[in-house]
Amino acid sequence: STDSLNVIKQSIQTIPDYPKPGILFRDVTSLMEDPAAYQATIDALVAQYRDHGFTKVIGTESRGFLFGAPLALALGLPFVPVRKPGKLPRAVISENYQLEYGEDTLEIHRDAIGEGDKVLVIDDLLATGGTIEATVKLVRRLGGTVEHAGFVISLPDIGGEEKLAALGINVYSLCEFAGH
Ligand code: PRP
Ligand code: MG
Repeated sequence: STDSLNVIKQSIQTIPDYPKPGILFRDVTSLMEDPAAYQATIDALVAQYRDHGFTKVIGTESRGFLFGAPLALALGLPFVPVRKPGKLPRAVISENYQLEYGEDTLEIHRDAIGEGDKVLVIDDLLATGGTIEATVKLVRRLGGTVEHAGFVISLPDIGGEEKLAALGINVYSLCEFAGH
């Protein structure tokens, strides 16, 4: 409902000049410190994504874990982590992706996704879309289908939604903040 979306949006603190001068940082730690807002967040994602026939939920390290894992439990689905390099113990595949400065790598267990999997990808925030583009590529390389990505926050002026749309991904976010 509009009320619960307002509760969620109001719980997200904005920190000016973090991590750099001029950046307005949208902070999900304040959301998680408010149990009503955290519960409303998971409930809203459940309402959006129940009955889609997903077989697995992926969350991307680290803030994607905070929303993806409780959502997976609430939907009764397996949770699969996508992690930063060197953290997963079984055989992995890797994807590099661009950061604002430099690049990073994400990994997934090879045996965590297969043909026939219909995957929902979850993260806290959509900015450039680079993190979720890499996540989607990992799932597809393993034969999984991914057509949906859900976020708590999106920053529509940065272009991530267009980047993911070009990959055939439908984006849903609980709240949007204008600007960069
Ligand atoms: C942040 C955020 C998203 C990503 C969004 O993660 O949690 O995952 O950036 O940016 P993008 O759309 O431009 O890729 P970060 O890499 O800071 O790491 P964390 O989740 O471990 O805090
Ligand atoms: Mg992240």
